[in-house]
Amino acid sequence: MKHVELDQKIMKYTYGQPIETDAVVLGNIKVGENLSYLALEGKSFKYKLKKDIPVYGLGESVRGINKRGWIYESFCSDDDMHTETKRSLYAAHNFIIIAEEKPFGLFIDYPGRLTFDIGYSQLDELVITPENMDLDLYILEGDTLLDIVKTFRQLAGASYIPPRWAFGYQQSRWSYKTNEEVRAVAKGFRDNGIPLDSIYLDIDYMERLKDFTIDREKFPDFEELVAELKEDGIRLIPIIDAGVKVEEDYNIYEEGVAGDFFVRDEKGDIFEGAVWPGKVHFPDFLNSKAREWFGQHYAYLMDKGIDGFWNDMNEPAIFYTPRAMAQAMHKVEESKDKNIDLGTFFGIKDSFSQIMNKEEYFKEMHHNMDGKCVRHYDVHNLYGYNMTRAAGEAFEKLRPSERVLLFSRASYVGMHRYGGIWTGDNRSWWSHLLLNIKMMPSLNMCGFLYSGADVGGFSDNTTEDLLTRWIQFGIFMPLLRNHTAAWTRQQEPYAFEHTERLKKWIKLRYALIPHLYSEYMKAALEGGMYFKPLAFEYEDEYVREMEDQLLVGESLMIAPVYEQNKTGRYVYLPEDMLLVTFEDEKTYTLTKMAKGHHYVACDMDHLILFVRPGRMLLLGAAADSTKDLDMTSLTGIAYCKEVCHHTYYEDNGMDRQVHLEGHVTEVEIKKENNHFNIKLKNAPCSVLKKLALTLFDNETETITGIQYDI
Ligand code: GLC
Repeated sequence: MKHVELDQKIMKYTYGQPIETDAVVLGNIKVGENLSYLALEGKSFKYKLKKDIPVYGLGESVRGINKRGWIYESFCSDDDMHTETKRSLYAAHNFIIIAEEKPFGLFIDYPGRLTFDIGYSQLDELVITPENMDLDLYILEGDTLLDIVKTFRQLAGASYIPPRWAFGYQQSRWSYKTNEEVRAVAKGFRDNGIPLDSIYLDIDYMERLKDFTIDREKFPDFEELVAELKEDGIRLIPIIDAGVKVEEDYNIYEEGVAGDFFVRDEKGDIFEGAVWPGKVHFPDFLNSKAREWFGQHYAYLMDKGIDGFWNDMNEPAIFYTPRAMAQAMHKVEESKDKNIDLGTFFGIKDSFSQIMNKEEYFKEMHHNMDGKCVRHYDVHNLYGYNMTRAAGEAFEKLRPSERVLLFSRASYVGMHRYGGIWTGDNRSWWSHLLLNIKMMPSLNMCGFLYSGADVGGFSDNTTEDLLTRWIQFGIFMPLLRNHTAAWTRQQEPYAFEHTERLKKWIKLRYALIPHLYSEYMKAALEGGMYFKPLAFEYEDEYVREMEDQLLVGESLMIAPVYEQNKTGRYVYLPEDMLLVTFEDEKTYTLTKMAKGHHYVACDMDHLILFVRPGRMLLLGAAADSTKDLDMTSLTGIAYCKEVCHHTYYEDNGMDRQVHLEGHVTEVEIKKENNHFNIKLKNAPCSVLKKLALTLFDNETETITGIQYDI
């Protein structure tokens, strides 16, 4: 990562006695004396927001890229109704940037409940209120918004890097329940010629929903299945849930009890809640020994050939506790055979409908943070983070030289070093496609680069057009996973009438992988962002409000269609750009478009993207799986003004040790006397041997084709 003189850029203020969260990796930060920018009034930090100044950040949260006009709460929540009036989703990402002329960032390292009132109570006021004043507050300065993000990444550490195969298309459902069903999905893809790199195993692969077990009745030949699919370029990705089933003779349960690895209640007994398997205990992920113990159990599946996992229900989700259930049942018993009044009726109803994830459960739970007893409620946002850290730390030992795919539902800043996230149980709603688009840059700001939403939508039945549009956007998301709930219609691309159309967009994803992977790696290694709002690179009266167009990496701007029954959309270009309209992954037209407002046609048979001036898009050939991608030969579509420059990163997609040095090929195209001069500095380990350049001349609007052998 590039070094920035940090002393001038980060100021730390400590209040009370903060709990160590391990969100920050940078030591020796200048401790501030007088609080700058903010005013501390009572228990709140306040800041006057100037008119029209955007506030960016908060990672996984509802609403827009500009977070002004709502109140957000950092409290990881298992809530599947992501409507705009919600205050929390599954994550707690306490980093914002106030985009004034001299922008500054705020990171509040506080693991409990924290609110960001960003112009909700008063339009022009930012009020940040923790429940207790035990926190570290960091103020970050920088010349640009991106500088501040990069400084933040130095503070909180570099982003997780998945294996390259995790950029392939991934298919999931709750659940593909048997080995036959899994084989049928693989066959569905291969028979239709649709690329695929992973199939997900949801909870039903386990024996009675127990972590680190396999139901041998449904998967008698699990090991062979894993090997056979891997041979075909498809990996199986099992889910791991936070709760451990209470069942005698179940090794994880027995070890957890014997080793004192489970969360306890206020009386000192092991805390019991209920999730999918019924009664469970929760591993104390905030305890380093428990983390180590749980982490090593991933080996059970890795030894069977598994290379990736998704960690779920780790807010943690608690459906009920035996105590709450007994109280609810008691209410029913009491009223049995009585003519109950309205109040009693609603009391009974609420005791069941509101039994999930009650605050009181989190207050009952207690952690042993390496010798210190801490109430779960006060460190709630660290739980999912530390489950993923348990896995990530174990993988460093179990696979010291290779990357493992890992992502989580709940998260806190710091977890981005160990894994990615998916954004939980969204719905098959057009508004959730738009929410997905808007959320990606905010997640990137907070370090979560390998992330994505359930493509097609999780709950509710999707429609073919929604899935098509979602895939058209999703092909730019690092984590491209189609996942859906148990009660919905089939959502695999071959389950719809126009399979060929869905297929061609998935193929385009594969053709784009060399480019997108390279952009991802550059963002990860430079502490930058893969998805950026336009306002992070451009400044004019319009870009500030553009929330449905995004910059992807250094070369591209995308303008996804996210509404039903549309055959195009309005696009704003902050400068001249080259429109690439794809008909399929091999066929495209190039059109120069002038800075300004346009209506651009884009029905479902077409896909549009824009190349920025002086930049290049690399395209490869599609393949059935990432393992078959030909990385030796690429096409470069360059939008040439006087100079065009592109940095292409490559590696073997697998090594844990990654750095830019020695892995980048620099291409420079200069137009001199109506002639293109090409300079190429090849990376020593490059497998790229042939570059077919398609040079679009801005002035003449003509195309020159040049074959470049490396
Ligand atoms: C949770 C997850 C979802 C999964 C389901 C069953 O709702 O968010 O992705 O399919 O649990 O495991």
